[in-house]
Amino acid sequence: MNGLKAVILAAGAGTRMHSKLPKVVHKILDKTMLDYVIEAAMEAGAEDICVVVGHQSDIVKDEVSYDVQFVLQKEQLGTGHAVMMAKDFIGDEGNVLILFGDTPLITGDTLSKMVNYHIEHKNAVTLLSTIVDDPTGYGRIVRDETHTFIRSVEHKDASEKEKMIKEINSGMYCFDAKHLNDSLKTLNNNNAQGEYYLPDTLKTIMAKQLNVNAMICDIYEDILGVNSRLQLYQANQIMQKRINYKHMEKGVTIINPTNTYISKDTKISSDTIIYPNTYIEGKTEIKKNCIIGPNTRIINSYIGDNVNIESSTILESNINNNTTVGPYAYIRPNSHIGENVKIGDFVEIKNSTIGNNTKVSHLTYIGDADVGSKVNFGCGTVIVNYDGVNKHRTVIKDNAFIGCNTNLVSPVTVENSAYTAAGSTITKDVPAYSLGIGRARQINKEKWVNKKR
Ligand code: UD1
Ligand code: CA
Repeated sequence: MNGLKAVILAAGAGTRMHSKLPKVVHKILDKTMLDYVIEAAMEAGAEDICVVVGHQSDIVKDEVSYDVQFVLQKEQLGTGHAVMMAKDFIGDEGNVLILFGDTPLITGDTLSKMVNYHIEHKNAVTLLSTIVDDPTGYGRIVRDETHTFIRSVEHKDASEKEKMIKEINSGMYCFDAKHLNDSLKTLNNNNAQGEYYLPDTLKTIMAKQLNVNAMICDIYEDILGVNSRLQLYQANQIMQKRINYKHMEKGVTIINPTNTYISKDTKISSDTIIYPNTYIEGKTEIKKNCIIGPNTRIINSYIGDNVNIESSTILESNINNNTTVGPYAYIRPNSHIGENVKIGDFVEIKNSTIGNNTKVSHLTYIGDADVGSKVNFGCGTVIVNYDGVNKHRTVIKDNAFIGCNTNLVSPVTVENSAYTAAGSTITKDVPAYSLGIGRARQINKEKWVNKKR
């Protein structure tokens, strides 16, 4: 499989999406359609990938997450014309996959099978086909009585008899690079749509007595193209099911896989239970025996063993073993929550470290702070980290006890085992084993109410 390349066509506008965005950047779960296709190509062993861009090319380029090359197709004159734009990339050595940016369900597995088939049959081209109930709109695969491939004919150019054929062209191929480039030179646009058709290259290649075959893919879903929002939704459902079923097969309990959304890039260990209405995105890793959800969103985070997270949002953070989070907690980027920590209801944490065995039970904001272990936060603590211009850090050392409704005006340090009195606004460091009080002393005005009335 050495030197396998891939060209992905993504220049079309996708008018049926009715969108300001180019079609291929629309997402399935947390990832663009185009990124899935690039991944499938890489999984099949493609070492170099070239994306043909055209319509809103800057947006498409910006959204690609991988190191690929781009070529521009200024005018969309057909699939054959799009591939011509990549002729220098294709070169004249090895094999090249031709893929579409709007078929996000294609898998590395199916592409690998096509490449192997291509090599075994010593083909100059292998076309990926499939059988469908309703072939309307697709190119049809015409075979003779011995089932030998004859040609691929576009719907609009097909005879009535050919339109009855249910084997369709997926639009994906594995080509010998040199034969592809040679045959592109012979393409013309004398057809019903006035386009340069890529499938016409097959005629030229067959005329040279070289092997051209169609490999029938039995997983129809793999080639499903997305042209509309409805198809985007259908592709989403298929992708979601594939991912969730794979996790279940490996020992994760998903209470309701139809309303649980997990990224292809997420890893989850066994005996973790995912409750409904949970979204897990990006390169998240969740270890074993966790209870996640319901109503939880986790993005690009690490979650250790035995962690419980309920009705909370966790962004780009890590939460270590035996910790509980929520309900209704908001953990913002770059937070490091230790082991056996309790993060309770209506707690927000941002860019902070929380040591092991610390309790932040309710209604507290911790921003830009380094909190030690076995610290206890009373209800309603606020770290006043922002002075209107700059953010400052606060340090709270091991075993400190922060009284209810304390404001810690940063930068400030509460030393080891120190207390702050409830209702204090702490602006000066509190020494170890001391009590910091920063509030007015209470006075009682006797009979004040009687006088007022
Ligand atoms: C194409 C195939 C058809 C196949 C079908 C499968 C041709 C002529 N027809 O038809 O046999 O059954 O796919 O879905 O190849 N694109 C460009 N530049 C262009 C034209 C297209 O980049 O100038 C891209 C589009 O963005 C799209 C893909 O190529 O991602 C397919 O183009 P489209 O016009 O949708 O081809 P179909 O008519 O569906
Ligand atoms: Ca199409």
